[in-house]
Amino acid sequence: MSDQHTLRLFGNTMQDIELAAMLLKQGKLVAFPTETVYGLGASAFNPEALRKVFEAKGRPADNPLIAHISSIDELELLSDNVSDDARKLAEAFFPGPLTIVLPAKSTVPKEATGGLDTIAVRMPNHPIALSLLSMSGPLCAPSANVSGRPSPTNVYHVLEDLDGKIDAVLDGGQCTVGIESTVVRLTPTPMILRPGMISAEEIEKVLGKPVGIVQKHEHAIQSPGMKYRHYSPKAQLHLCGTHEEFELFSRRLPHAMKMSGHVTTQFGDIFPLKESTYYDILRSADIKGIKDIIILFTEEERKQKTALFNRIEKALSKE
Ligand code: TXA
Ligand code: MG
Repeated sequence: MSDQHTLRLFGNTMQDIELAAMLLKQGKLVAFPTETVYGLGASAFNPEALRKVFEAKGRPADNPLIAHISSIDELELLSDNVSDDARKLAEAFFPGPLTIVLPAKSTVPKEATGGLDTIAVRMPNHPIALSLLSMSGPLCAPSANVSGRPSPTNVYHVLEDLDGKIDAVLDGGQCTVGIESTVVRLTPTPMILRPGMISAEEIEKVLGKPVGIVQKHEHAIQSPGMKYRHYSPKAQLHLCGTHEEFELFSRRLPHAMKMSGHVTTQFGDIFPLKESTYYDILRSADIKGIKDIIILFTEEERKQKTALFNRIEKALSKE
């Protein structure tokens, strides 16, 4: 898969979306936009195409993929056992940044499930993705980055990591959400395996029962992907909880890039800390050769922005 030409396609022309769907049906790999991050698509029922996804990303084989669908009815293609709770969540949040873990149908390749008996499914809220999926059928799509790197939120990020390793990329501009979907499992009890923009409280409201959030040490068992170090720039992150700490680090590391939730626009060398631009800023730091990034994230903000805090914690983890 190396040194091949990666075709640039444009999501604003139907012809290009059709071409992308055709390539996917032939077992090729095509990156495409979603509202969260760009996904690296491969036909969900083609084991050989799925193996190429792992190869292109350098992804561990035990880390399962998310299947993407274009209508709620397509859940039946992936699972024989769509519970009432799963259906309630799909009706409330599809299309949107929620992934539901379901019992996998026997026809789902083990490459998609990482050998588990479950399959993660979501319906992205993005017109280009939905149009593509309606032509291609279900696609498995992990984030379209090299394993371990920050997820891609525009086509330049995808090409930075995967140019020459995949068949095509469909340009749909900037992703609006900017971080990956919430992953929830429903049995034996509802549990968030990866926090995202759809919160435990929102899910609780729909299910009418409590929803847990998996703790750090449980990640390896619950959701294989969460045990690996993730979302990391080359620069070293320094996480500060108070303004005093932030100032101390800033004096100690005068060449560092700084991020804070207390600015809303780029202000001098301080960049805003928010989901929609977080990965883009990490990647831009690497391009500029920046060695250190100092992040001010107060205790209060950590409670409010749990998904963003989760990504920072994962980037800091030594695993
Ligand atoms: O927003 C998103 O979800 C993006 C876009 C492209 O849709 N996709 C994405 O995929 O983030 P990926 O492969 O980078 O992350 C998938 C996560 C991993 O943490 C993986 O372990 C978990 O979902 N996962 C997948 N299948 C699972 C399963 N059967 N049981 C538990 N966790 C699962
Ligand atoms: Mg990923």
